[in-house]
Amino acid sequence: MHDELYPVPEATAKAALIDNDKYLAMYQQSIDDPNAFWAEHGKRIDWIKPYSKVKNTSYDYHNVSIKWFEDGTLNVAANCIDRHLETRGDQTAIIWEGDDPADDEHITFRQLHERVSRLANAFKDNGVKKGDRVTIYLPMIPEAAYAMLACARIGAVHSIVFGGFSPDSLANRIEDCRSSFIITADEGLRGGRKVPLKANTDKAIEVAARDGAVVDKVIVVKRTGGDVTMKDGRDVWYHEAVAAASPDCPPEEMSAEDPLFILYTSGSTGKPKGVMHTTGGYLVYAAMTHEYVFDYQDAEVYWCTADVGWVTGHSYIVYGPLANGATTLMFEGVPNYPSPSRFWEVVDKHKVSIFYTAPTAIRALMGAGEDYVKKTDRSSLRILGSVGEPINPEAWIWYYDVVGEKRCPIVDTWWQTETGGILITPLPGATALKPGSATRPFFGIQPQIVDAEGKELEGATEGNLVIADSWPGQMRTVYGDHERFVQTYFSTYKGKYFTGDGCRRDADGYYWITGRVDDVINVSGHRMGTAEVESALVAHPKVSEAAVVGYPHSLKGQGIYAYVTLMEGEEPSEELQKELVKWVRNEIGPIASPDLIQFAPGLPKTRSGKIMRRILRKIAEDAFENLGDTSTLADPGVVDDLIENRQNRA
Ligand code: PRX
Repeated sequence: MHDELYPVPEATAKAALIDNDKYLAMYQQSIDDPNAFWAEHGKRIDWIKPYSKVKNTSYDYHNVSIKWFEDGTLNVAANCIDRHLETRGDQTAIIWEGDDPADDEHITFRQLHERVSRLANAFKDNGVKKGDRVTIYLPMIPEAAYAMLACARIGAVHSIVFGGFSPDSLANRIEDCRSSFIITADEGLRGGRKVPLKANTDKAIEVAARDGAVVDKVIVVKRTGGDVTMKDGRDVWYHEAVAAASPDCPPEEMSAEDPLFILYTSGSTGKPKGVMHTTGGYLVYAAMTHEYVFDYQDAEVYWCTADVGWVTGHSYIVYGPLANGATTLMFEGVPNYPSPSRFWEVVDKHKVSIFYTAPTAIRALMGAGEDYVKKTDRSSLRILGSVGEPINPEAWIWYYDVVGEKRCPIVDTWWQTETGGILITPLPGATALKPGSATRPFFGIQPQIVDAEGKELEGATEGNLVIADSWPGQMRTVYGDHERFVQTYFSTYKGKYFTGDGCRRDADGYYWITGRVDDVINVSGHRMGTAEVESALVAHPKVSEAAVVGYPHSLKGQGIYAYVTLMEGEEPSEELQKELVKWVRNEIGPIASPDLIQFAPGLPKTRSGKIMRRILRKIAEDAFENLGDTSTLADPGVVDDLIENRQNRA
C-alpha cells in the first residue's frame, strides 16, 4: 500500500478554484442542507422555467423514486450551445483530432449551433418526435456529438451503442428500447483499420426485425467513402439530409425529469440494462463536476480520451464541458497509432491543459517506454485524470512523474454509468493525493462502507461501497423495467444505493476502490458481465456449459478466463479455442474476447448444481493453494483436473 502523500503542487494551489478549506465547508453544507446547496448550484445552468422544488428522492425499497428540480424546464442543447453564442460564439467548442494525424478540425460554438440545428431538423424531417429513441452507432467524429445534441434539442432520447459492439449487441439494444431511428457511418476508422458500421447496422436491423422491432430510418454519415448498400426509402445520407434541412430549430422546452438518454451497461445477471438519465439534474451534476474536478478555467483546452459510446464520453466529452462553455477535444484514434507518442503529440499540437484517460492506456504506454513521452513537450498540461478501474500505484507514479513531470495533480475519479458523474475524487487545489486512492467524496455524496449484512462500518475499514443518499446525476430507472432498477441497486442493502464495488477507507478518510464484488469484470476499463460471455459461449454448437471469471491482467486490469465444457464427443483443440474466441467476438464484440479458455470435463458444483465461482476464480488467479472448503462439491475430483490444466501460470 502506497500511503505516501503528494501535496497540492504550489502552482496548482495558487490558481485553483477550490482549496481544502473551501472543499470542507462546501461539502459540509451539501450534506447538512442538500436542498439549499443544490438550489444554489442548480442555477449554474439556464432554466426556461426555474424550479421551485429541489430534491424529492426516496431510497425506500418499496418506493424508490428519484426526482430533482422536478418543476423546472430547460433544454440541454440550448445550455450546451445557444447560451454561449453571445459571449463565445467564435470560440472553439470542439477540436476534432482524426485517426490520421493530418486530419483535424476546429468547430466553433456558432458552427456547432448551425450543425446541430440542421441535424435536429433533419431528424424531424425523417419522422423523429419528442420522446422517440434514436440509436447512435458512430465512430468518434464530430457528428456523434451533433447527433447527441440534436436529440436533446428536439427532446428525442439517444441510446449510443459503442462502435466496437457486434450486430447482435446492437440489435439487442435497438429492440430493448424500441428505437426506430439509427444514425451511423459508412465505416469507422481506428488505428488505420476500418470498422464496417453500416454493414453491421444492416445485419442488426435484420436480427431485430426477427423479433418484430422495425427500424424506419437510418441516417448514414460518409466517413471513409467505403462501399455500402443504401436501402431505398429507409437509408438517407447525412450530408444530403442536413443540406436539405433548415438551420433554424428552436429548442424544445423539456421538463427536468424528461429522459435525456439511455445507455446500456452490463450487470451481473441477464442482458445489459438500459440505464436511464434525465435532463435537469444530470446536466447540473455533469457540468459542476467537470468544472471542479478538473479545475476547468476559461479558454483552456480539455481532452477526455474516452469514446462517446461509454458514459465518460457522454458526461465528460460532450455534456459537462459544453455546458461550461469549454473547448473539448474529441479523438478518433488510439493511443499507439501511428506511435506510442500520439497522445502527447496531440497534447502539444492543441495545447491541451487537462488530460483525462484510463489506467489501461497508461499501463500500455508505460510498457512502450518513457522515450515516447520524453520526446514531446507537454508543458501545456496542468491536470491529469484517470477513470474506469483502480489505477495501480506503479502506473499512477509513472503518470505523475513522467507524463506530468511532478507538476500536474492526478484526479483519480471513481464513478459509474449509473451515477451520471464523478462521485469520489480529489479536487486539484484541495486534495493531497495518494497513488491508487480516489480519495474523498464530491459535494453531496455520502459514501458508506457496509459489511455483508449491511451494517455500516466506521473509521478505517474495508467492505462494500454504498451511497446513503441521492445526488442530481443519479440514474432514475432501468428503461422499461423499474423493478429491475430497485432489485439491482436497492435490495442488497435496503435503503441504500449499492455500487457493486468493494472499498477500503483509511485512517485519513480516503477511499480506495478495490474492484467489483459481483459477477462483473472490468476489462480495460470496460464493464463486462460474466453471464453475457457465458451465454455467448453456450450458444456455440460444440459447447455444453461455460463459466467465466476475471483474473489479474497486467495491461487490461482484468482478463476474461473461460472454463468450457464441450458437448459429448467433441474434442478439445487449439483450433477450437481460437474458434470460440472468434465466436464471442462476433456475438458481443472484441471487448468480450476471452483471453484464456480452459476446456474442463466438469465444473465444480454444489450438490444443488450451483457453480462454485470462488474456486474457479482462485484457479484462474493461479492461487489455488487456498481453495477453502471443497467438501460440499458434488464431485470434488473435478478440482484436480482444473488445477492441472490451468491456463494462467503466473
Ligand atoms: O468498478 C468500478 C470501476 O468501473 C465501474 C463502473 O464502470 P462503468 O459503469 O463502465 O463506468 C466507467 C466509467 C465511469 C465501477 O463500478 N471504476 C470506475 N472508475 C474507477 C473504478 N474503479 C476504481 N477507481 C476508479 N477511478
